[in-house]
Amino acid sequence: MSNPVHIDIDGTIAIVRIDNPPVNALSQSVRAGIVSAIQETDADANIRAVILICNGSTFMAGADIKEFGKPAVPPLLPDVVTALEAAQKPWVAAIHGNALGGGLEVALGCHYRIAQMGTMLGLPEVNLGLIPGAGGTVRLPRLIPMADAFAMITSGKPVTAATAKSTGLIDAVSNTDLLRDAVAFAKTIIDLPRPLALSAKPIKEPLADDEISAKSKALAAKSRGQLSPKIAAETLLAIQALDAQSGLSLERENFLKLKADEQSDALRYIFFAERSVSKIPSIKNAITKPISTIGIIGGGTMGAGIAASCLLANLNVTLIERDTASLEKGVERIVAILHVSMKRGLIDQARYDALTGNLSSSTDYMDIADADFVIEAVFEDMNVKKDVFAKLDAVVKPEAILASNTSYLDMNALAAATAHPERVIGLHFFSPAHIMKLVEVIHTDHVSDDVFATSMALAKKLRKLAVPAGVCDGFIGNRIMSAYRRAAEYMLEDGALPHQIDAAMKSYGFAMGLFEMQDLAGLDIGYAMRRRKDATRDPNERYVDIADKIYRMDRLGRKNGAGFYIYEDGKTPIHDPDIDALVIAESKRKKIARTSMTEVEIMDGLLAVMADEGAALLSENIAASPEAIDVVMVNGYGFPKWRGGPMYQSKSSA
Ligand code: 3HC
Ligand code: NAI
Repeated sequence: MSNPVHIDIDGTIAIVRIDNPPVNALSQSVRAGIVSAIQETDADANIRAVILICNGSTFMAGADIKEFGKPAVPPLLPDVVTALEAAQKPWVAAIHGNALGGGLEVALGCHYRIAQMGTMLGLPEVNLGLIPGAGGTVRLPRLIPMADAFAMITSGKPVTAATAKSTGLIDAVSNTDLLRDAVAFAKTIIDLPRPLALSAKPIKEPLADDEISAKSKALAAKSRGQLSPKIAAETLLAIQALDAQSGLSLERENFLKLKADEQSDALRYIFFAERSVSKIPSIKNAITKPISTIGIIGGGTMGAGIAASCLLANLNVTLIERDTASLEKGVERIVAILHVSMKRGLIDQARYDALTGNLSSSTDYMDIADADFVIEAVFEDMNVKKDVFAKLDAVVKPEAILASNTSYLDMNALAAATAHPERVIGLHFFSPAHIMKLVEVIHTDHVSDDVFATSMALAKKLRKLAVPAGVCDGFIGNRIMSAYRRAAEYMLEDGALPHQIDAAMKSYGFAMGLFEMQDLAGLDIGYAMRRRKDATRDPNERYVDIADKIYRMDRLGRKNGAGFYIYEDGKTPIHDPDIDALVIAESKRKKIARTSMTEVEIMDGLLAVMADEGAALLSENIAASPEAIDVVMVNGYGFPKWRGGPMYQSKSSA
């Protein structure tokens, strides 16, 4: 392999350039190249400062995750960072794109840091089940206040260059030409005394132990069984009381322990799965059409979120509603989402004005005649949707793509009812659509490769995680959830109680139990869906009446204060013995002998059902791979990411 580290000399300044596409990960050859560059520049008496910069779209985005499963080959990253710190010439990290994980740790080994506006800097190791392993936990809180370091390391969330400048993480921001600005910066520090190496400095603004304990407690509740944030907090707490060398040893010990843990294996699996699922060899040569104008039909919960996503991706959007009153409400919903984005600082006033300017609305379908892509999000009713698609057929241009956001309906039947089934596709967004990254892209039987490829590209443009799925009742995610819900309901009749099932799921790592989730959605929603399915349900199928009975008691869930649970404050579920009595009475009525179940038995049973349904989806070609199923369950249904997903779990436990 060619050497990924090159040195150019500009007068008295050496420019060390890393070129290791796609993200300049710190592979062995890069680490070795940096060490040689230190030796070479140290030995050259003419060189007064060194700039470390990267080719391509980003600074180093971290250690090379692909090397993690293999034996480590020296030089190890912690040693590279220590060598940088000890270099005889001052090193300036010139950062663009992302400086993440090991990439930021390398920058912390440098003596100065300058970053281009728009750069993101972070230590995202917790997201891979790790903590920083090359001195990040020791050096970062010696450069920026411990409270800021704690937030960055335990959340894994990167900060912008502007924030980094305000906390002191970087010394300067470049607004134009990074290399030119870095060279100019280097010239200003050449004659200054060398700053102390970070590992020689004290912790900056240490936190009081009780502050860290309070933060750690909040973190433990939020991470629900995930080890890495907890270990990150514990490491930082210990490091406050240790000298830098002992801190580095402790960090390394904890990093290596976590790297060998199954949680990190699962998180690395999901990292690569998320990147592989949208790569579809069969459409490699398809033509992706440019999309600039989107029509959205229906401005309810989903339509508004999808419209906001499209606007935030700089697309022109026209919203169509069934009447003026609904149209006004739809526009209000979209504008409210953009307003929240502005309040949170994600967009500024000028961008808000521009985006709202890209939104138009109408009750006349003729106003979307020019749309390149139309996404329908009207009521979940086949006749209503067929009617909408017929209207679209009549007005849109022949090359326009027609997508439906249906959750369950037969996309092939909907496509067949149109004049051009080859341009009809499903785009199943998740709620709230402007926040949730997952989109199932539903491959209808007759859809053309170009339409499929263009739909995948649109999802990417919206910064979504697109997972292809075939047509069936519920596609990948909702179909698994239906099987899962059915199994949980059988468990109710067989011996478990709603709060026991929910507790089992939460202790496994789900954010919410199944029955809490139904209370949140509203028991009227599930009830209406079951009534829609009455006509086609096999009369011999086992049917559990408990949810229907609770609904008929006028317990609709959170919205009216009672469902499977009672909600005194509108949001905290309180266990209700009356519901236990109802469940037990149902078993009795059906003459089912109840057998108590442990948390492990409940969870094992439910996981087996998910994995079996997943296997069926694979054999029916609805899902292309086990990875596709895991990515859907982890990103759309609260399956704990650090468990990898139901298919990963079934493989690991086999
Ligand atoms: N190692 C190896 N490969 C990596 C990588 C890494 N750290 N980061 C990204 N890649 C690969 C991806 O797998 C993908 O490969 P593919 O094209 O074959 O699928 C390619 O680079 C491009 O990645 P993305 O599709 O994610 O590109 P984006 O432009 O959307 O995002 C990014 C770029 C923000 C840098 C994103 O890739 C990212 O977040 N990467 C991971 C960053 C990270 O977690 N770093 C910490 C690593 S652990 C560490 O450093 C330990 C240290 O403390 C010792
Ligand atoms: P909603 O009831 O909030 O919104 C539907 C909107 O469509 C209403 O504003 C209504 O006025 C409008 N509408 C109805 N008929 C119309 C017509 N003929 N022409 C134009 N507008 C019309 O419903 P929601 O929740 O937004 O769902 C929409 C679709 O998205 C459904 O197919 C649903 O299954 C699907 N979906 C819903 C999710 C959710 O969590 N709510 C998640 C994923 C998909």
